[in-house]
Amino acid sequence: MNSCAVEVEGLRVVRGGTEVLHGLDCSIPRSALTALVGPSGCGKSTLLRAMVGVQVVAQGRVTVLGRAAGSRALRGRIGYATESPAVYADLSVRDNLRYFAAILKAEAPAAELVLEQVGLTRESERLVAQLSGGQLSRTSLAVALLNQPELLILDEPTIGLDPVLREELWRLFHQLAGDLGATLIVSSHIMDEAARCEQLLMMRDGRILAGDTPEGVRRSTGSQDLEQAFMRLAGETGAAVGTPA
Ligand SMILES: Nc1ncnc2c1ncn2[C@@H]1O[C@H](COP(=O)(O)OP(=O)(O)O)[C@@H](O)[C@H]1O
Ligand SMILES: [Mg+2]
Repeated sequence: MNSCAVEVEGLRVVRGGTEVLHGLDCSIPRSALTALVGPSGCGKSTLLRAMVGVQVVAQGRVTVLGRAAGSRALRGRIGYATESPAVYADLSVRDNLRYFAAILKAEAPAAELVLEQVGLTRESERLVAQLSGGQLSRTSLAVALLNQPELLILDEPTIGLDPVLREELWRLFHQLAGDLGATLIVSSHIMDEAARCEQLLMMRDGRILAGDTPEGVRRSTGSQDLEQAFMRLAGETGAAVGTPA
């Protein structure tokens, strides 16, 4: 079996008449937590959409779990949480999960299982409208987990959360990668969120700057932290350095 969960070759994507991914190559190992980091607008969501198979691609190839991205056979094997939570504010957490479980034709106990996996069992009767930011993120994550996917793609799940909640969520992502043996890809515009991931993809302006372990990226750039590594790598590409946030 191929050891890569995702392989991207020569990916070009045009959005609104402008090329936003410029012939991008990268690979993501199986059964690990990979962070996709880069400043806002660099193309993280576009790349994740291409992996999920919901992005029109101008050129290149995206292979997911050994199949072309978007193929029917991948349905049910991938969980995807978009940047803005796609859950119903006027339903309880549990009712949202039951609703999406029915749509996904998930097994009957799926809702209760994912509530436990994301640590929301006690809040399950609360309306989504009344949840804190961290609880809302966990609810989106729970929906993405309903079919117990082999590959979980989470687009900026920690956006807008304070550092303590962000840390808690990353701990949960690690736990999910470990316990389920699942592959997780988590995007963020905060470089240092990736510090404890197994793998790191650093992106800027529609290109991959680095794909390595966080330690490898720090070492090869002689940097103290990932923020500094990003600045050095961005400098090397010869373009003006933007704000990495
Ligand atoms: N629906 C869209 N139509 C046209 N351009 C878009 C659209 N969505 C994103 N873009 C552009 O594509 C580029 C990459 O965006 P995106 O993938 O959302 O970046 P990120 O997720 O890293 O913030 C940006 O320049 C953005 O303005
Ligand atoms: Mg985005």
